[in-house]
Amino acid sequence: MTGLTSVGILGTGSQVPDNVVTNFDLEKRLDTSDEWIRSRTGIVARRIAADNEATSDLAIGAARAALDDANVSADEVDLLIVATCTPDRLMPATAVIVQAALGATKAAAFDLNAACSGFAYALDIATQALRGGAYRRALVIGAEVMSRTVNWNDRAVCVLFGDAAGAVVLGPVEKGGVLSSYLGADGAGANLLYIPAGGYREPNTPATLEANRNCMIMNGREVYRFAVQVMGEAVIKALSQCGLTPDNISLFVPHQANIRIIESAAKRLALPFDKVFINLDKYGNTSAASIPLALDEAVRAGRIHAGDIVVTVGFGAGLTWGANVIEWTAKGSSV
Ligand code: COA
Repeated sequence: MTGLTSVGILGTGSQVPDNVVTNFDLEKRLDTSDEWIRSRTGIVARRIAADNEATSDLAIGAARAALDDANVSADEVDLLIVATCTPDRLMPATAVIVQAALGATKAAAFDLNAACSGFAYALDIATQALRGGAYRRALVIGAEVMSRTVNWNDRAVCVLFGDAAGAVVLGPVEKGGVLSSYLGADGAGANLLYIPAGGYREPNTPATLEANRNCMIMNGREVYRFAVQVMGEAVIKALSQCGLTPDNISLFVPHQANIRIIESAAKRLALPFDKVFINLDKYGNTSAASIPLALDEAVRAGRIHAGDIVVTVGFGAGLTWGANVIEWTAKGSSV
């Protein structure tokens, strides 16, 4: 590590759509119940983007809030990554739309698709890029409109997801910051969670739309099994890379997919639940936005302090997974 810059989170921000859809709202149009959704997942409500609202709109709001929080101006950003699996368009990247809107004129900008693990991946990639000194400030955003990927008649899937964006600003710090990351993928599980049509292998046609092949298909039980196993493993690997153990965790900020998955992971790590941050009750699974949204809310709620060891872990389609260990740095400690 000697000679390399430490890279920390200088500020956080988030934005969610105004429209709240509760489990009771879903009960009215779907064969489901608040009791089922709440007991199986912990989700109570989710935010759904308005028809004229897209991933870039949420990303821009979250990015502005994070830049404000970090006291960094858009033209100081050298690298801008939007982690998303719901880009505004297939081309160009949503990141360039965000870049233009922010006026981040010096920034290289690209999208990263690792589904729900996107933020964990992007945080690591940006940290590595800054560590060598070639870039000084990065904006890492997770933003999604998952509500557009689900079949609203498929009760096993649509109740789980919501829309949101979260962002962090990264920069050099004296010590601490992102201590380690552990990323993984297993494409053998690509068909456990996927959207069959709408890419260039199977472009959308009236027939694909009729068959809902433009919507997410999920093997819930297999994904559940995978998630429970990989979360604990990824956290332990990321911690061990920087000489830490689960006992060192001040706050655990996991991907907010399902309360039962998080409880199992916490149990595996022998973590008391007061060290686990949860907001999935309000937002459901917002994919790549989930962790940065949770980080931002945890900061605002006074749950994260300078010197804390914050551990994040994501998992999702791919299959992919990733954990980050962050020693939280004090406001204004950028060098
Ligand atoms: N409301 C009411 N009933 C529902 C329902 C809903 N929204 N969704 C499914 N059901 C029914 C099923 O049809 C099934 O009925 P059946 O027994 O008559 O066939 C029953 O509930 C049980 O379904 P099952 O799939 O066994 O439930 P589960 O306890 O495994 O929970 C999930 C389902 C989806 C909550 C769970 O598998 C899960 O969370 N998986 C991980 C998903 C995830 O996190 N994906 C994103 C990863 S990033």
